[in-house]
Amino acid sequence: MARRIAALIVTVVVVIAAAARGDTAAAGSTASAAVLARGRYLVRIAGCNDCHTARYAETGGAVPEAEWLTGDGLGWRGPWGTTYPINLRLYMNAISEEQWVAVARAVRSRPPMPWFALRDMTDEDLRAIYRFIRSLGPRGEPAPAYVPPDRVPATPYVQFPPPKP
Ligand code: HEC
Repeated sequence: MARRIAALIVTVVVVIAAAARGDTAAAGSTASAAVLARGRYLVRIAGCNDCHTARYAETGGAVPEAEWLTGDGLGWRGPWGTTYPINLRLYMNAISEEQWVAVARAVRSRPPMPWFALRDMTDEDLRAIYRFIRSLGPRGEPAPAYVPPDRVPATPYVQFPPPKP
């Protein structure tokens, strides 16, 4: 009898433990779905797609999500040289979440990258952006390399007017 009670108790404990694990897993996936939704929202409204996704601005955002943030070969040319919005899908896949938060705080990119927007984001928002971009997976090729001011880029580019004297 005592053995049967003990066996019953063990069964009950195992069942409760499994149920608890199930709940935690469900809560975890709801939490991560919310974080991914937040990341997707931030990427859309903070303008990351405008530059880092080819044709996004011109088409009013009509670019499939699978192609988002793969960088652009359209250069931005000004007194700083010519810069290209990097491939963020490859970039995020090459660094850890902790590295990303540290980079976002410290980076001082050339124009027109709004590095100050990254600097001023909360850790929570930076992490949401990271997780969303990671969830899309790596895709595409690296953007063309930076071209110094005295060289004419081989790609199409947007010319910024020189600063007034
Ligand atoms: C107005 C265009 C523009 C917007 C908007 C923009 N970027 Fe950029 N981004 C660039 C360009 C151009 C570069 C390359 C800068 C350089 O070569 O110094 C860049 C570089 C970067 C880099 C590399 C940082 C470095 O210098 O090592 C990261 C990371 C990045 N962008 C993330 C983002 C995220 C996240 C967003 C949205 C919050 C965003 N960018 C919005 C144009 C833009």
